[in-house]
Amino acid sequence: MTSFAEFLTAKRTVEDRALNSAVFERFVSELGACSGSDLVRIVEIGAGTGSMIARLAEWNALPPTVSYRAVDIDADTIDTARQQLPEQLIAAGYAVDRTTDGLIASRQEGGTDQRLELSFEVDDGFSITDEADAVIASAVLDLVDLDPTLQDLKGVLNDGGLLYAPITFNGRTSFTPVDPFDGKIERLYHRHMDEVREQPGSSRAGQQLVTALPAAGYRVLDAGGSDWVIRPVDGAYPAAESTVLRHLLATIDNALTDYPPEVLSPRTRTEWIETRTEQLQRGDLTLVAHHLDVLAQLQAD
Ligand SMILES: C[S@@+](CC[C@H](N)C(=O)[O-])C[C@H]1O[C@@H](n2cnc3c(N)ncnc32)[C@H](O)[C@@H]1O
Repeated sequence: MTSFAEFLTAKRTVEDRALNSAVFERFVSELGACSGSDLVRIVEIGAGTGSMIARLAEWNALPPTVSYRAVDIDADTIDTARQQLPEQLIAAGYAVDRTTDGLIASRQEGGTDQRLELSFEVDDGFSITDEADAVIASAVLDLVDLDPTLQDLKGVLNDGGLLYAPITFNGRTSFTPVDPFDGKIERLYHRHMDEVREQPGSSRAGQQLVTALPAAGYRVLDAGGSDWVIRPVDGAYPAAESTVLRHLLATIDNALTDYPPEVLSPRTRTEWIETRTEQLQRGDLTLVAHHLDVLAQLQAD
């Protein structure tokens, strides 16, 4: 099985395509409006291997002067981010100096001096405090209890601060070619997220987030679909996207082993996974997984 950090790095190209461009552009424009204050403070919770930071830099989406706290509870992912990001930022035109807890990256873009002060932290991102202009939680809010988390985030955000939560899972994992057991496997995989696994979270977190935000004191500025579509192109998967499919099949397999044989026979599970693995190896497997991107703003009390 691939490491979690390899999986996170591999899904970057999938999500570059998947991100909802209207929600992303609104986020970038609202973030730009914060630049009235000289320094824009961003906290990313569940930053993983740093894909969002690299993307924002490459896509020229950051305000001129940014302090960016990249927080993840998993030390391996933060280590990978620390190793990968200097090269990625240099490729995006930045000069990079390492600091004790992160790095400082600077460049000139369109006649403007840009500076990114980045710190890496291994911590529970929902127990930290800050006065951030924006919190980013990408592919994270489907792993938490939403109501307490939205309250916790009030200790991280300024009044009027932005919450950008892209790639929030929302209830569909579908593969082709069609298999007679797909419906049952998908139902049990999602039920595992909702009722079986120890980690909190929900298989319909995207929609639940849109409903929970106003009740928790946030205004939803925009929301839109951001489906993963991973498919072979001329018989081969782009970039490292076969790694994403392999990791997802292993995740589904692990989840399904928690069911007793009277709910799902081991033979059905094994045959389904073997069939999907063979299709992946032949370059014949396509996945569509449904997510929502949500942008909200914390209202003043
Ligand atoms: C599905 S991954 C997404 C990572 C990254 N945002 C990306 O999209 O590539 C979820 C991440 O959230 C992190 N995470 C989960 N609970 C967390 C918490 N309480 N505080 C900080 N990070 C957390 C995990 O360690 C993991 O790296």
